[in-house]
Formats: sequence, structure tokens, C-alpha cells
Amino acid sequence: MVFGRSSKMVLLQKVPLFQGLSRKQLDRIGRLADELDVPAGKRLATVGETGHELFVIIEGFATVRAGRGRTVRLGPGKFFGEMSLIDGGPRSASVEAATDMRLLVLGHREFWALMIAAPSLTQIIMATLSRRVRDAEAGVSD
Ligand code: CMP
Repeated sequence: MVFGRSSKMVLLQKVPLFQGLSRKQLDRIGRLADELDVPAGKRLATVGETGHELFVIIEGFATVRAGRGRTVRLGPGKFFGEMSLIDGGPRSASVEAATDMRLLVLGHREFWALMIAAPSLTQIIMATLSRRVRDAEAGVSD
């Protein structure tokens, strides 16, 4: 599904992750990100494989298979795929669509452009990454 520029802005304004960003920053995200609709069951990341995208969930839920049999459910406003983009390493977990989903997708270059354009977003992504590492260390399941 392809959105016009103004309907894309309306969509972006509803994403909690992007709240607090200026119109200009939202507009930049709109230009950098692609929309992707996927059906339930679609594999979006595979553990051990190279990953080239960050996904932001607009609608629906994803299941992260985070190792040692643990699963984490991520819903609207959450994101995944940041780890491989940040360090260039393989996917740390497999992720699949638990329901039909609407996502925003950012490639490597767009991800880093956004990190520079929206420092408050960088802060959220770094904080989330730290929490995920801590959870993984502690064996916590959400
Ligand atoms: P990446 O390693 O690129 O690909 C798999 C993604 O799953 C990973 O980035 C994170 O975004 C996400 N992920 C990995 N571990 C967890 C966790 N414990 N909780 C939530 N999400 C995770």
C-alpha cells in the first residue's frame, strides 16, 4: 500500500516513538522510510543472518524469538532490527509477524541519517537497546 505524503504524516504522528519530534523531523522520516504491509506468519528477521533494515511497527504484533526459548511480543510503536544496523553483526533473534502488520522500514543509510536528524529518537533507540541487552542477560521475557 502506498500512502500520499499527507496521509503518511498523519500515520507518523500517531506512532508513540515519534512523539515529541518536530514536523520537519517527521517529514524527514516520511521521506526516508518505506511502508510495508505483511501478512501474519511472515518472517521479518532470521537469527544469524545479515540484517539491513530497522522496522517500526505501525499496526499489528511481532514475535521475537530471543533465544533460550524466550519469546517477546512487540506491538504498535515498538521497533526491531536496530542491533544489526548499529554494529553490522548478524540478527540476534528471529522475528515474525504474529498478526497482519503495517510497518515502516528504514535501510542502513536512512537509519543513520535519521539518527543524526532526530537525536531524541537516537536516545530512545539506545535506551531500548540497553534494556534489551539487560533483559537478555537476566533472562527476562518481555
Ligand atoms: P537485530 O539483532 O538486528 O534483529 C533481531 C531483533 O530482535 C533485534 O535486532 C532486536 O530489535 C530484537 N530483539 C532482540 N532481542 C530482543 C529482546 N530481548 N527484546 C525485544 N527485542 C529483541
